[in-house]
Amino acid sequence: MSNTAPTHEEWDPKTYWVAPARNFRFSARLHLQHTLFQSTLGHLLAPQIQAAVADSAHLKVADLGCGNGVWLSDLDRELSSRGITAQLNGYDLNAANFPAAPFRPASMTLKTLDVLASSLPAEHLGAYDIVHARVFVSSIPNSDPTAFLSAARALLKPGGWLQWEESRADRHVVEAPPPDVGKSACETITGILKAGAEARGFRFEALLDGLGDHLERGGFGDVRVGARDTCMRDWKAWTENYLMVWEELASAFPPREVAPQAPMSREQWVQLFAGAVKEAEDGVVVHQGSITYVVGRKALG
Ligand SMILES: C[S@@+](CC[C@H](N)C(=O)[O-])C[C@H]1O[C@@H](n2cnc3c(N)ncnc32)[C@H](O)[C@@H]1O
Repeated sequence: MSNTAPTHEEWDPKTYWVAPARNFRFSARLHLQHTLFQSTLGHLLAPQIQAAVADSAHLKVADLGCGNGVWLSDLDRELSSRGITAQLNGYDLNAANFPAAPFRPASMTLKTLDVLASSLPAEHLGAYDIVHARVFVSSIPNSDPTAFLSAARALLKPGGWLQWEESRADRHVVEAPPPDVGKSACETITGILKAGAEARGFRFEALLDGLGDHLERGGFGDVRVGARDTCMRDWKAWTENYLMVWEELASAFPPREVAPQAPMSREQWVQLFAGAVKEAEDGVVVHQGSITYVVGRKALG
């Protein structure tokens, strides 16, 4: 991992998000993560939005950074069961994880789009009743959500709703079952990840604690922030989710023979990862404590 934070101009999300490793394992992890978000939050649409759209016959929804489209696919099921027809459009930099068109709900399209690009396609502007994003903080350069929120607002119709959900990327809770199970590898990895994120210019805590203020400054009204603690019954699955992330990260560290001076070599990372897997097998759990969500509404006029 580089120790230098990129400037806004230098940031190229494609170098990370469209890497060859973003393959079926990444998609499988997103399916697991979706299940965990749903288990924690208990809703696809936040209660304020559900109440606001309850009488709608048709909804147009955009999911920004949609991954494999699992949230939209689940939303299709929920809206159909309520008799609401919908047009569900997912946008992502990387099409590799999109299900094939014949196997998607008929209401759903998935398209390649950089949602942080300086201009969005004109036909999408002012088109959506709801814009959704989830687990997007590590795609926001320098943790400054101004461009992201302005894109979300531009896509919404007047009176449309933004819903944004994040797990607490700023913290990891590492817990060992008593009495004397070691957890040092998991704690070392979570410490390295925190320092690495800060070195790359991310300020997750400030961004997540300030979501409500960011939406208000970004021109949204009716802003509500909510949080739900992760459930103990899910902690083993959250741990497996993070182990998959950590395994993927091995390729971010250079092998010793390529960069002997690097503060962390691939060999050291793999050794730490093996230690973390052993600790998880011994019952250690890793989770992020809670999920935060924020909703806000674009002004009517
Ligand atoms: C952690 S994944 C979350 C996927 C999905 N939101 C979910 O919760 O299942 C982040 C996604 O954002 C996408 N992404 C990152 N930067 C993006 C950008 N500037 N425009 C569109 N998609 C982006 C990545 O390709 C990746 O699929």
